[in-house]
Amino acid sequence: MIEILQIDTPSLGDRSYLATDGTVALVVDPQRDIDRVVGLAAERGVRITHVLETHLHNDYLTGGLALARETGAAYHVSAADQVAFDRVPVSDGDVLEFAPSARVQVLATPGHTFTHLAYVLAGVSGDPVAVFTGGSLLFGATGRTDLLGAAHAAELARAQHASAARLAAALPDQVAVLPTHGFGSFCAATPAASANSSTIGEEKARNPALTLGVDRFVAELLAGLDAYPAYYARMGPGNATGPGAPDLSLPHQAGPAELRRRVAAGEWLVDLRSRRVFAAGHLAGSLGFELGNTLAPQLGWLLPAGTPVTLLGETAGQVATAQRELARIGVDRPAAIATGQPEDWAAGEPLASFPVRDFAALASARRERRVTVLDVRRNLEWAAGHVDGAVHLPLHELAGRLGEVPVGELWVHCQAGYRAAVAASLLQAAHRQVIAIDDDFGHASEAGLPVVMEPVVREPVAGEPVVREPVVQEQVVQASVAQGPVVQGPVVQGPVVPPPVASKPARLAAAQSSGGRRRTSAVPW
Ligand SMILES: [Fe+2]
Repeated sequence: MIEILQIDTPSLGDRSYLATDGTVALVVDPQRDIDRVVGLAAERGVRITHVLETHLHNDYLTGGLALARETGAAYHVSAADQVAFDRVPVSDGDVLEFAPSARVQVLATPGHTFTHLAYVLAGVSGDPVAVFTGGSLLFGATGRTDLLGAAHAAELARAQHASAARLAAALPDQVAVLPTHGFGSFCAATPAASANSSTIGEEKARNPALTLGVDRFVAELLAGLDAYPAYYARMGPGNATGPGAPDLSLPHQAGPAELRRRVAAGEWLVDLRSRRVFAAGHLAGSLGFELGNTLAPQLGWLLPAGTPVTLLGETAGQVATAQRELARIGVDRPAAIATGQPEDWAAGEPLASFPVRDFAALASARRERRVTVLDVRRNLEWAAGHVDGAVHLPLHELAGRLGEVPVGELWVHCQAGYRAAVAASLLQAAHRQVIAIDDDFGHASEAGLPVVMEPVVREPVAGEPVVREPVVQEQVVQASVAQGPVVQGPVVQGPVVPPPVASKPARLAAAQSSGGRRRTSAVPW
């Protein structure tokens, strides 16, 4: 029996996987905090012998190299990737003899990156059980194709379409599709389906890469691309270098004097408490990033590279969770922490605060006096509908464009309240008077505020036709954070498969490009 367990990282919208026959295990696309994977393997009493990367990730630092070193597993990375560490290079057509009753077939699936690979888990009889699709075929979507530069986006989108077709042609309908991205990740080109599982057959019926012709697919994919976190630019090079395991031990507790010194030095003091509690009273100069699934991508996006971070939380557990989240995206080792309440941290200094209101209150205020509405959502959200007369400054651009924020009474909003609270704390730290709207944007029109649409004409990309950006709906991420090992599953249980045979599964062989060669794992068992 082959059992496949998924390891969720909801804050990044990603999944990793551990597949085992009960004795040995392979791991696909592990996040950097590998203690979750090691703990799961220990819990199951299995030995990790293979670690596989579908691609050099752009949204997180991998734990693959550290996991392979800790467990002695073979580390499989595309042979076409230039990396600075020893690995077992794999290419299209390779076969990894994973276990006596199972094997893995390597399929080149360029699109998300040029060197992207998918891994088909099959019994030795040749019956595929599941395919680890990384950033190629997602649930009702595909991985975005602009992470290696906008100039490659159209070319890679075409490759993505062909890779999806290849997977669909190669694999039977009942094969489970197990992507890495698409669960809220910015790596999805378009919003993924909310399904918790999928198969090749289901994707044939709903995935735009499989239901649309290539030209329309490419046009729609490019039209759906919006800004992605700035830290992505550092992840690919970091993964090519080979990240080590993070140090997740808690840093020292900072007292009031040290906190004051750090604020004065321009460092970031990040308050993890709920956004409404933060608004009601916080250490002057601190920034509010409520602990939740939005913390890592938003803080990682806004934090200037190299800026020391001190984490403020009510408990050491809150701080430890945030530290783990940030280590996944390469924000290692907070400079310090402080736990308790802001009164403890301020040591008698007055706390800062700002009001929190809703869209109904904004509508009321606009009837009475002149106020500025600041919308900090991304471009596509703004284009899909915004309050008439509002000023638009995406949150990730706010710090660099503070001079463009009008003076006077400032009401800041986003889609659901998180980004507005972050923006309010940034604006207040810049000595602006601000009111944060903690409300769903859908309530704006209900409150009587005029909401208008403003389609954006995008510049052609690499010869593609001009397209208009469509209405998109932001995925509202739940405000809970995984603490420690997060395991769901088994999501797939395959049959017991017969002993190894030398020939490739016929279906896979038909799908391979010419010249594919067989490679067997170097790890004995
Ligand atoms: Fe990716």
